[in-house]
Amino acid sequence: MFLTDEERRILDGAFGEPQRIALGVLLKLGEAYGADRMLEIMSAHVVGSSYQIAGEAGLEIYSQLVAQGARVKVRTTSDPGSIDFARWREFRTPAGYAERQIKIAGLLDQMGVIPTWTCTPYTTFNVPRFGEDLGWSESSAVVFANSVIGARTNRLAAYVDVCAALVGRVPRFGLHVSECRRGEVLFELDPGLSASFEDHYFPALGYRVGQVTGDRIPVVAGVKHATVDQLKAFGAAAAASGSVALYHMVGITPEARTVEEALGGQPPAERVGIGPREIAQTVEQMSTGQGGAVDVVGVGCPHASIDQMRRYAALLQGKRVHTGVQLWICTNTAVEEMARRMGCIQTIEQAGAKLMVGTCHNDCPLGAWGFRRLATDSGKFAYYTPTTVGTECVFASTEACIQAAITGQVERK
Ligand code: F3S
Repeated sequence: MFLTDEERRILDGAFGEPQRIALGVLLKLGEAYGADRMLEIMSAHVVGSSYQIAGEAGLEIYSQLVAQGARVKVRTTSDPGSIDFARWREFRTPAGYAERQIKIAGLLDQMGVIPTWTCTPYTTFNVPRFGEDLGWSESSAVVFANSVIGARTNRLAAYVDVCAALVGRVPRFGLHVSECRRGEVLFELDPGLSASFEDHYFPALGYRVGQVTGDRIPVVAGVKHATVDQLKAFGAAAAASGSVALYHMVGITPEARTVEEALGGQPPAERVGIGPREIAQTVEQMSTGQGGAVDVVGVGCPHASIDQMRRYAALLQGKRVHTGVQLWICTNTAVEEMARRMGCIQTIEQAGAKLMVGTCHNDCPLGAWGFRRLATDSGKFAYYTPTTVGTECVFASTEACIQAAITGQVERK
């Protein structure tokens, strides 16, 4: 790989041990993937902020880095942690576990990481521009940055993201290279489905697209309109059920003004038709459990926006969450604060729902609750929570999930 004089000096230790180690890791990664050189990045986003992901090894590595004077070189934000820093006792998090997450938070603070604790940094704290190179991890954030914004990042692993933050560089390969951003699998929506596309079809479509695409790049044609929250839900599901890091939605995402542009002028490797039957089959597959009594409901994955908070508040206005059911809404501190000023939090809390801020069902240890059945409107939760929370899962629309929390019963479609 070509290295600049400055990069050679970093590797010689001229800028300290943390930078030397970090660039060494990135160099090995670049060599493994055939990168030709390093790229300077505008920002990093790190998943190793979570104790569940970083573990004891992370604590040790971050402690050493801090002792050696490590500071991030570019704007760097933290993904959700493994606790709600303000309410961890309410979520029955063991004290020893919480202490370890708090320790990681302190170490990241010392390295200069912005303590955002969110998987949606792109809405407020770490907003990339089209074409910028980034060093991000967090599958849902990576797919959003690449697809909806048109920024460029590979899906970095935990610790590699911290290395990128420490030197402000990543090796140039994969989604940093224009030719590697060309769509490969073309999904064509049936016109009948396009005309009546409902909100909860976005995570279901994303889930289906991820299953079929794997790690290739999908192009979706036929979606007439999509909000930022719908694109967020679609991408998170595709990144979970497959390992999609970039999608093109024709007429909606910036590198897909036409099907031809999305495919880079080449024919697709595969064409896949999607109609009401495929969506119904996928919704069916996303539920691992039967309908019936529900004990936990999870919304706000990826972290809820202010529009979503208003929607939850409207659905909960004057209602009461059923006894024995936990309705937890995941979001970040910025949205929490704004929603509080707007009166949404009061409505939500009066109804008996709880905010889960800076974390989520997937990141927190929830064994103490003994949950059996989770209802969610998130494709990513539907994919992971049967393993991480150990529950059955029923996927349903946002309205049906809130209704399930109120009645204590969820219907499987
Ligand atoms: Fe975010 Fe947790 Fe979902 S990190 S994307 S709310 S699984």
